This record gives sequence, structure tokens and C-alpha cells, in this order.
Amino acid sequence: MNVVETREQLAAARAAARGTVAVVMTMGALHEGHAALLRTARAEADTVLLTIFVNPLQFAPGEDFDRYPRTLEADLALAREAGVDIAFTPTPQVMYPQGPPAVRVDPGPAADQLEGASRPGFFHGVLTVVNKLFQLTRPDVAYFGEKDYQQLGMIRAMVRDFDLPIDVRGVPTVREPDGLALSSRNRYLAPAERQAALVLSRALRKAAQAPEPVAAGVAEFATEPQVKLDYFVLTDPMLGPAPAHGPARLLTAAWVGGTRLIDNIEVQLP
Ligand code: PAJ
Repeated sequence: MNVVETREQLAAARAAARGTVAVVMTMGALHEGHAALLRTARAEADTVLLTIFVNPLQFAPGEDFDRYPRTLEADLALAREAGVDIAFTPTPQVMYPQGPPAVRVDPGPAADQLEGASRPGFFHGVLTVVNKLFQLTRPDVAYFGEKDYQQLGMIRAMVRDFDLPIDVRGVPTVREPDGLALSSRNRYLAPAERQAALVLSRALRKAAQAPEPVAAGVAEFATEPQVKLDYFVLTDPMLGPAPAHGPARLLTAAWVGGTRLIDNIEVQLP
């Protein structure tokens, strides 16, 4: 595995890459969810390029940028194990040599709902860094997790609206055996919080079977006073208004102590 830190090193590694090039973008603190993206990429492309960068642009003041887990050595071991060819680990100085960029991607009105409503500017920061990493890595295909369902949709929209020649593929959410969706932020949870956090996946599962999904999900959250619900919504698969029947999506976000977690599942409405 070739570990590169500068733009020049990345350009040289990219120029030497053969066949179809897949990119998996991460903020590090890698876990089995990231590994699933890397393994899918390994199976489907000739060259697998991993990026690890904790993007300051997508953290609001007061969010967890400073304490976000940074575990580079373990991340590189997982990457080697998953068969990554090139790992790009830039510093903020490499990514933003002029400091915070004046020009940013406008994610449009879809970014004002759900995550964007609770985290203003979040999708400007995400799409700006994803766009930059697309330019720097020039992949044929890119893998993103359904765990961050709205993010996946926003990236698909950017690729479509900016005519980027990249095939964006979604990968299903990887969960712990008890249902908790894997997340780098799960490391923040104390044991009691880890137990309480199960309410997210439990509420989604129960809601998916209920005649009134949103009411059922919200009621399930009421059984867990340690967890503060942010949103629990039913939408169509493209995050538009909920359909009367057929395929739909349930999405939730909640605070478990000082940690904000998100999860979502597919639903079939009868
Ligand atoms: P990060 O949270 O590190 O996630 C990197 C990728 O892994 C994303 O595509 C995310 O959806 C996926 N992922 C995370 N947990 C997963 C799980 N349990 N199952 C399946 N996939 C999972 O998302 C980001 O970083 C950043 O916003 C980024 C796109 C890198 C831009 O900075």
C-alpha cells in the first residue's frame, strides 16, 4: 500500500494506477462500516484509493472537530488488510493551502432539511471537500455508505448537476449484532449510553412494521429518557414527501448524552 500525504505524491500514484479506479472517502477512525466500502471497492475495481481527512469545513463551531478520533496507524492497518492500493492522508494545509476556501459548493434546498436543519453549513462543507477530493483523485467509481443516507443523496445530486464522470455507488449500513449502526462517534459513548443508543435502530425497526410508522418510532424514543430525539421522519427514497404506499425511507437523529447519532432504514409501505 502506497501512503501519500502531498498533492504531488498523490498525482504520481494516481498517474501510475491501472484499470478502473475506485475511491472511498473517510474521516478515519475506521471501523467495519468503512471496511465494507473498501471490500466492495476491492471486489469491483482494479485500483482502490482511500482518503482519510477530518474535514474542518463540515464541523460547525462547538462541534467535535477537535476531539474527533484520530487513529491513523490503526486505520492504515485496516486499509492494508482490506487491500487498499493508495491511502491519501492530507493535512488541512494540503487540502486548504489558502485557508478556508472562499468558493464552496452550494448544496441547494435539499440541504436545509434533516441533517442540514440541525447542522447549518454541514453539506456545504461535505460537498466542497468531496468535490475537491474527486478532482484530486479522479476516480471512475466512488463508494459511500447508506448510513449517511442524505449525504449519499446530496453527493449523487452534485455528480449529476456538475456532470462529473463518476459512478456513485451506495453500500448498505453495517451494524453491530445488537443493531447499533457502526459510527466513528460510537467511541464517545459510555457503556450506559451505548445501551441507550440502541433505541435508534429499535425505533426504526418497529416503525417499519407499524401502521403509523412515525408515531410508532417517536413512541419508542419516549421509552428511553437518556436519549433526546432530534427528528424521526418518513420520506420517499429520494427524501421527498412520504408516499402513500410502496418504497420509502425512515430516518432519525438523536442525542445520546453529548453525542449526536443518525440512522435510517428502507421501508415498504403496504
Ligand atoms: P465518515 O463518517 O468517516 O464516513 C466515510 C464513509 O463511510 C461514508 O460514505 C459513510 O456513509 C460510510 N459509513 C460510515 N459508517 C458506516 C456504516 N456503519 N455502514 C456503511 N457505511 C458507513 O462521511 C464522511 O466520513 C464524510 O462526510 C466524508 C464523506 C468523508 C467527507 O468528509
